[in-house]
Amino acid sequence: MLLYQYSVLAAFASSVTASLNITILQPDVPFTPSPLPPSHADSDGEDIIVAFQNLGRTTIWKSIANITYEGDTWEPEGIVRLGADRYIVSANQYTESTVPYNATINGTDRTAGAGFAHLIVFSGDGTRIADATISQRGDIEYHNGGLDYDGENLWGAIAQYRPNSSAYVYKADPETLRPKTVVRYDDHLGGVVHDTTTHKITALNWGSRNASTFRLNKQPTQPPKVVRNPSFYIDYQDCKFLGHSALYDSKPIMLCGGIASYAFGSKVIYLGGIALVDVETMVPLAEVPITGQTALGYPLTANPIDASVEDGKLRLYLLPEQGNATLYVIEAQV
Ligand SMILES: *[C@@H]1O[C@H](CO)[C@@H](O)[C@H](O)[C@H]1NC(C)=O
Ligand SMILES: *[C@@H]1O[C@H](CO)[C@@H](O)[C@H](O)[C@H]1NC(C)=O
Ligand SMILES: *[C@@H]1O[C@H](CO)[C@@H](O)[C@H](O)[C@H]1NC(C)=O
Ligand SMILES: *[C@@H]1O[C@H](CO)[C@@H](O)[C@H](O)[C@H]1NC(C)=O
Ligand SMILES: *[C@@H]1O[C@H](CO)[C@@H](O)[C@H](O)[C@H]1NC(C)=O
Ligand SMILES: *[C@@H]1O[C@H](CO)[C@@H](O)[C@H](O)[C@H]1NC(C)=O
Ligand SMILES: *[C@@H]1O[C@H](CO)[C@@H](O)[C@H](O)[C@H]1NC(C)=O
Repeated sequence: MLLYQYSVLAAFASSVTASLNITILQPDVPFTPSPLPPSHADSDGEDIIVAFQNLGRTTIWKSIANITYEGDTWEPEGIVRLGADRYIVSANQYTESTVPYNATINGTDRTAGAGFAHLIVFSGDGTRIADATISQRGDIEYHNGGLDYDGENLWGAIAQYRPNSSAYVYKADPETLRPKTVVRYDDHLGGVVHDTTTHKITALNWGSRNASTFRLNKQPTQPPKVVRNPSFYIDYQDCKFLGHSALYDSKPIMLCGGIASYAFGSKVIYLGGIALVDVETMVPLAEVPITGQTALGYPLTANPIDASVEDGKLRLYLLPEQGNATLYVIEAQV
């Protein structure tokens, strides 16, 4: 395990050693397919990038399936699709709300609140297989952000649920869901992706306004490279590393989904969208809005997103609702 001690906070010590708090609902069912499927970067990443090129504002998205997820999913934040029959979801259970300070105190704008970070495993039909609580009661960091998968490990970040705070990046074997802390950092982090070619992890801060890139193959002495996100149309919530793209001069590319709210007079609307983003510079290389909403009124790209390509068509896997969540599978008709 690599421990990048950019900012060590003593309060984290217990979360590294404590035993895993897990509820297994399907005792004889493995959490993952065997062997593990390859990452997007090692399989369909370039296909996703190529299929994205056909999208536009008028693309018709066909509803392929709505899969009801069993049990409480709290607020889902990230999703990793491990083939057609397994999904792993990062989610947050809030037990005490944050309260605005109405002022800036210690660089942030609200109380810490309280809650638990989860990793939940579902089968293709929405059956709940296992639910791991991966933060400890009383931890100030309990917000589990977007999730990525590199062919071996899940990658996520558990942060304080407020801007300009603190976080740690973890990796977890999907076969056990046991997290190992990799990086500790003095900012809110989520939306982690892992580039296995360059051994770098990139994580987004509150509202995805900055991206911080950590080198995993260097001694933990230098701070990460911080890049400002030049795009403000939406705030990315969940990203998937797609690999170094032939279409984009071998740049490292991630698929991101997200939303932003806009006030038009007294009316507030949510704009959702997806983007192909250069991981190194945060420059979006292609982006399209997704205007669909669920029956409960959530924008489709509110939180988790994964993708596949079926017969040349881009398929998205979205889990926007809180509580009793439904996986919305939509496909671009182009
Ligand atoms: C396990 O996590 C749940 C929240 O999902 C919490 O209520 C419970 O207290 C935790 N158990 C232990 C032993 O920490
Ligand atoms: C999924 O739900 C949406 C409404 O939220 C509906 O418009 C759509 O037809 C449903 N799709 C399927 C395949 O049932
Ligand atoms: C900030 O203002 C809101 C609305 O007036 C109020 O509900 C909240 O309690 C205030 N926060 C603090 C920490 O006083
Ligand atoms: C601000 O930080 C100081 C020093 O760490 C701490 O004593 C104080 O409780 C913090 N204030 C709030 C409102 O969290
Ligand atoms: C973050 O917090 C630090 C320390 O309190 C403060 O100096 C800085 O201005 C804050 N930055 C933002 C973006 O709020
Ligand atoms: C982004 O990073 C820069 C450089 O570290 C910093 O000055 C700025 O406050 C950060 N912005 C946000 C919104 O975190
Ligand atoms: C989920 O659905 C059940 C059954 O309809 C309901 O009792 C429960 O309150 C719902 N949970 C949430 C968080 O919406």
